[in-house]
Amino acid sequence: MIKNGRANFGSKLGIILASAGSAVGLGNIWRFPYETGNYGGAAFIFIYLGCVLVLGLPIMIGEFLIGRRSRANTAGAYQILAPGTQWKWVGRMGVLAGFMILSFYSVVAGWTLEYVFEAIGNGFAGKTPDEFVNSFQSFSGNPWKPVIWLVLFLLSTHFIIVRGVEKGIEKFSKIMMPMLFVLILILVGCSVSLPGASKGIEFLLKPDFSKVDSNVILAAMGQAFFSLSLGMGCLCTYASYFNKDVNLTRTAFSVGIIDTFIAILAGFIIFPAAFSVGIEPDAGPSLIFITLPNVFQQAFSGAPWLAYIFSVLFYVLLAVAALTSTISMHEVVTAYLHEEFKLSRKRAAWMVTGGCIFFGILCSLSLGVGKGFTLFGLGMFDLFDFVTAKIMLPLGGMLIAIFVGWYLDKKIVWEEITNNGTLKVYAYKTIIFILKYIAPIAIAIVFINELGFI
Ligand code: PFF
Repeated sequence: MIKNGRANFGSKLGIILASAGSAVGLGNIWRFPYETGNYGGAAFIFIYLGCVLVLGLPIMIGEFLIGRRSRANTAGAYQILAPGTQWKWVGRMGVLAGFMILSFYSVVAGWTLEYVFEAIGNGFAGKTPDEFVNSFQSFSGNPWKPVIWLVLFLLSTHFIIVRGVEKGIEKFSKIMMPMLFVLILILVGCSVSLPGASKGIEFLLKPDFSKVDSNVILAAMGQAFFSLSLGMGCLCTYASYFNKDVNLTRTAFSVGIIDTFIAILAGFIIFPAAFSVGIEPDAGPSLIFITLPNVFQQAFSGAPWLAYIFSVLFYVLLAVAALTSTISMHEVVTAYLHEEFKLSRKRAAWMVTGGCIFFGILCSLSLGVGKGFTLFGLGMFDLFDFVTAKIMLPLGGMLIAIFVGWYLDKKIVWEEITNNGTLKVYAYKTIIFILKYIAPIAIAIVFINELGFI
C-alpha cells in the first residue's frame, strides 16, 4: 500500500507482527539465555523484566511517536521534528548502531543456517553432549564455513529489503511468527520433563540478589534494549510506515509482551536442558547451539523421527526469526541512505549489505583464527556486541526519552499518543512522567555507576 509516496503496512495485525518480528529474534532465543547464564539467572531476569516495563515500553512509545509523526527514516525524523538542531545525531548514532549490530548478528544468524542443514542431514543423531560441544567449537572456529553462511544470510536479507516493505516483511512475519511460538511451547514441555531439569527451573526462578552488581544491571538493561529493538530508531523507522489510526500504546504493549514471553520461554527450554545434560549455564554465545540438539535427542529418544522433524523445524524457524530482525536493521540503514543521500533504494541496500559482509567477516574471524586481535581486551565480535547493546542502545534510549519528554511540543506528543484525542490512554501521565524523569535518570545512574563514579 503506497500513501503519500511512502510505503505503508497493510493491516494492524501486520504492524504488530512486523514490529514483533523485529523484536523477536536471536536476542530472545540466543542472547537472552546466555546473558541470563552469564549474570547468574533469576536475579538478572527480574531486573530485565523491570527494565522492559519501566524503560522499554515508554521508550518504545516514544520511538513510535517520532517515526509516525515525521514519516521519515530515523535521522531524517529528527531533522523534521527538530530542524536546525543537533538532535539528528541521535538518529545517526542509531543508524551506526544498526549497521554494527547487523554485522555481528549475521554471524550468529549464519550459524543457524549451518544447524538447519546439520538437522536436515540428521547430523545430530546419536551424538553425546561432549560431541555437540566439540562440533560447535570446530565449526565456529573454521575460517570458511561460518563466513559462507553469513554472506548467504545477508544476501537473503538484502533481497527481501529490495522487494519493499509490505510484500517482504509482512508476508514473512504473518506465517512464521505464530509457528515459532507453537514450537517453542512444545520444546518447553520437552525440556522441563528431562531428568534433572528442576535445577534449571530453580536457576530461572530463585533469585540471588546478593550477586547483583552494576555489571548485572547494565547487562539486563542492554539486553532489554537489544531484545525490544530499541534505542537505534528501528521501531521509529517501522512506525514511519504506520497508519494514523494505529494505537501506539497498545502496539508497544503487544510487542513488549510477545517479546518478553518468548525470551522467558527460551530460558525455560535452555536451562532445564543444560542442567539435565551437564552443560554449564555460563557457556556464553555457544549455549543454545550446544544445548538444544541435546533436547531433541534426549526428549525424543523413543521416536527419532520426531527428533528429526522438531530439530529441522526449530532451526528453520530460528533462522526466520533472525531474518525478520535482520530485515528491520537493514531497513534502518537502507532507508537512511536512500532518503538522506538520495541514492536509489537498490543501491543503498547494496551498500549496507556489502559493508555488513565486510565487518561481519571480521566479526566471524575474531572468534576463530583472529582470536589474538583485540581492542580493549575484546575481539571484534564481542566489541561490537558490547558497544552497541551496552552503550549505544541505552544511550539512544535515554536521548529519545529526553527528546519526547522535554524537547518535543506537548501537543504533538498528545496528538500522537491519543490519535488526536480519539483514544483514551489511561497510562498517559505515567508514560510522560517516565520519559521525562525516570528513564533519563535511571539510565544515567547505570552509566555513571558502571564508569565507577559511584
Ligand atoms: N531485537 C532483535 C532480537 O532480539 O533478536 C535484535 C535487534 C533488531 C536489535 C533490531 C536492534 C534492532 F534495531
